[in-house]
Amino acid sequence: MTNIPIHAENNMNNNTALITGASDGIGLECCKILAAKGYNLILVSRRQALLEELAESLTSRHPNICCTVIAADLSAPQAAQALFQSVEEQGLKVDFLINNAGLLHNGFFTQLDLAAQEKMIAVNVLALTSLTHLFANQMAAGPDSEAKSGGHILNVASLAAWMPIPNQNVYAASKAYVLSFSQALHDELKAAKSGVTVTALCPGYTATKMMDNPDQGGKLLVPATLLQSAEEVARQGIEACLAGRPTIVTGLANRFSAALTHLFPRMTLAKFAGRYYRSNME
Ligand SMILES: NC(=O)c1ccc[n+]([C@@H]2O[C@H](COP(=O)([O-])OP(=O)(O)OC[C@H]3O[C@@H](n4cnc5c(N)ncnc54)[C@H](OP(=O)(O)O)[C@@H]3O)[C@@H](O)[C@H]2O)c1
Repeated sequence: MTNIPIHAENNMNNNTALITGASDGIGLECCKILAAKGYNLILVSRRQALLEELAESLTSRHPNICCTVIAADLSAPQAAQALFQSVEEQGLKVDFLINNAGLLHNGFFTQLDLAAQEKMIAVNVLALTSLTHLFANQMAAGPDSEAKSGGHILNVASLAAWMPIPNQNVYAASKAYVLSFSQALHDELKAAKSGVTVTALCPGYTATKMMDNPDQGGKLLVPATLLQSAEEVARQGIEACLAGRPTIVTGLANRFSAALTHLFPRMTLAKFAGRYYRSNME
């Protein structure tokens, strides 16, 4: 892990957001939105050079903010703990955590590389859970720590969380975990008056590299009309999180699809999704 703080002069804002998967897609758009709101940013992903470029461009556009780059592979053992330690050592306090980094693998479960599936679980589930634990504790107002002032956690799940999906089964199950975990934790932290809000963001198909990355097994063919922009997804997620909502499914069509999942038995949904994915997977 390498840390490159890029400091800007006149840092007027005490709010700091940490975004995982900041180098691309939805995470990158979250960074742009929060920079415009005056948040200092901690940018996390594996591709350090991209993060440094982003930090330079955000601080030159918003001279009142400060960006810190931490290159980290969140699939590595104890990655979340190392990241948290690095943030603490730099004296940074996170008010807004966005657990966005995620991996997808399409295809027949038994034919997909097992190590790749394990990495997906490590990033989508394990790192997200550990970072939530570490930073929620840092944010939460406890009886003995009046200095703590609460915060926001946005966990990126997916519309895939709402049903079993053959040929994308580990991914969908990992996102079902994120949705269930985040909704339960939202209630738990609210009941404890911790001052920490947790929101599950459930985008449908979004126009990012994830939709056509050749390293992700089969490619799912999705009509352009069904794709949302990463900017719109990020905006809806951040707004819902700052408003303290437990869940946000982005866009009307996706909300309709999520609502439909309550009307059918799960195996009916699995059969429908399986047929769709088998006939639209390249
Ligand atoms: N696109 C969609 O249709 C869609 C729909 C629903 C939900 N989502 C969810 O939205 C989130 C963002 O996806 P996206 O579409 O924006 O994907 P993306 O464009 O592929 O971006 C993924 C981000 O995660 C980072 N990342 C990947 N593996 C990592 C690792 N091992 N350690 C640290 N960072 C890692 C990548 O950065 P580096 O390569 O630099 O590490 C990149 O910044 C994911 O959780 C995804 O499951 C996406």
